[in-house]
Amino acid sequence: MKYETQKVAYPFFVAALLLFVAQIIFGVLAGVVYVFPNFLSEAMPFHIIRMSHTNLLIVWLLIGFFGATYYLLPEEAEVEIHSPTIAYVQLGIFVFAGAAALIGYQFGIHEGRHYLEQPLWVKILLTISFLMFLYNASRTLLNGRKTAISTVLLLGLWLAAIFWLFAFYNPANLALDKMYWWYIVHVWVEGVWGLIMASLLAYLVIKLTGVDREIIDKWLYVIVGLVLFSGLLGTGHHYYWIGTPAYWQPIGSFFSALEVLPLFAMVIFAFYMFWRGQRDHPNKSAMLWTLGCAVMAFFGAGVWGFMHTLSFINYYTHGTQITAAHGHLAFFGAYVMLNLAIMTYAMPHLRGKLPYNQMLNMWSFWLMTAGMAFMTFTLTFAGVIQTHLQRVMAINFMVVQEDLELFMVMRLISGVIVLIAVLMFVYALLGRAKEQVPAEGAPHIAPAAAV
Ligand code: HEM
Ligand code: HEM
Ligand SMILES: [Fe+2]
Repeated sequence: MKYETQKVAYPFFVAALLLFVAQIIFGVLAGVVYVFPNFLSEAMPFHIIRMSHTNLLIVWLLIGFFGATYYLLPEEAEVEIHSPTIAYVQLGIFVFAGAAALIGYQFGIHEGRHYLEQPLWVKILLTISFLMFLYNASRTLLNGRKTAISTVLLLGLWLAAIFWLFAFYNPANLALDKMYWWYIVHVWVEGVWGLIMASLLAYLVIKLTGVDREIIDKWLYVIVGLVLFSGLLGTGHHYYWIGTPAYWQPIGSFFSALEVLPLFAMVIFAFYMFWRGQRDHPNKSAMLWTLGCAVMAFFGAGVWGFMHTLSFINYYTHGTQITAAHGHLAFFGAYVMLNLAIMTYAMPHLRGKLPYNQMLNMWSFWLMTAGMAFMTFTLTFAGVIQTHLQRVMAINFMVVQEDLELFMVMRLISGVIVLIAVLMFVYALLGRAKEQVPAEGAPHIAPAAAV
């Protein structure tokens, strides 16, 4: 590790991983309810389990992004982090606010609106923490070298914070409420988080392949341009049936179909660079997660998104298990795998060890990815049947749910496999390291990696 303050990232990654485990446990609990409907129905109703699951997801992903930023910024900007103290305080506030929301939910304290259920004071704390982060990171950037990667990354994070402000606006009119709700939920994952993903992947690709920065920067700009061009008006694919004007049907269909392009470009980019790259980087598991992220994001967001994005198809599939199938694979492929890639790359440096427990890490990669893929398939089958019976044949919702039971059992099984894989991953990163530094003072990592 070249810069002392890169170690600020460590507690962020640890916190993110622990919350990741909690997220998956709530996911499995929600999966159990689908098979045994009365499970925990008094102690912890389904909607509480569900909001715990989805909120934990967003909170740990953001903490992971913060950590990733603190990790790469000193290297990119060639200066130390402006203030490690602000970073630690900011992490404390964020984790406290997230935990408070989570505990509150168990007592029924929440404000509805999926993903934005946090009570107002929690939202305020999250905002304060986010602003402290942005101040700290921006000061660091301004103090040093400004690369395309760090600029795009910070632009994405700033825009994420700005769009988050719509969480504070909750109009009484339900159509308007939904319109602004998507400003966060859609614009985050299909717009501004896309900048975060593209820049973090670009960083990993530079480090792992040694390909020239100039080439990577050109790709980065093209991908960012495509993300913003398609993703912003692509919001229209959520405005088909909520009371917004009918012109959103062609606009949303057209622009959201184009959203597949940047995702496809990222796959080509990653594979092309690894093919071109000269460097034989020792951290093979980081390579696996990096390429896996590009591929699974393309399938989860691109292919599974395209499946139901045209208005005349969405008319039938809207809000069915198809949506859940896509939501899972997209979030997993794009943002979960991105975080796990960065952590897999950074942890050996942060802990001063050689890339370690690679076998276990790679096993967890295959098990987790296969588990999520299988879960997506079962949900997709369930969704197709549900769409046909419920939307085409007009059979009653609850009657249709009974016909989906087999798929829900299979979803639960794949969910348990994912949980096991997640525990393996956490152990691979935080547990005892098998491959230690050879000798005191020896380079932490093969010389080729020390860029
Ligand atoms: C990293 C892995 C995971 C990610 C990224 C993830 C993400 C999500 C998201 C985004 C939603 C909301 C879906 C929507 O609004 O359409 C959701 C709901 C849900 N998740 Fe997960 N999840 C993961 C793992 C799991 C696991 C392992 C299970 C276990 C079976 C699970 C079970 C559920 C259930 C039952 C719901 C509620 C679906 C509904 O309301 O019909 N998830 N998850
Ligand atoms: C990484 C990127 C993406 C993520 C994380 C993601 C995640 C999600 C989630 C969680 C939902 C459910 C929201 C809810 O109703 O609560 C959703 C809905 C939807 N997504 Fe995505 N998505 C991504 C990219 C895309 C792309 C690229 C497309 C189109 C090509 C797309 C098309 C859709 C559509 C049409 C819906 C609405 C489904 C319905 O009507 O029920 N998504 N997405
Ligand atoms: Fe969307």
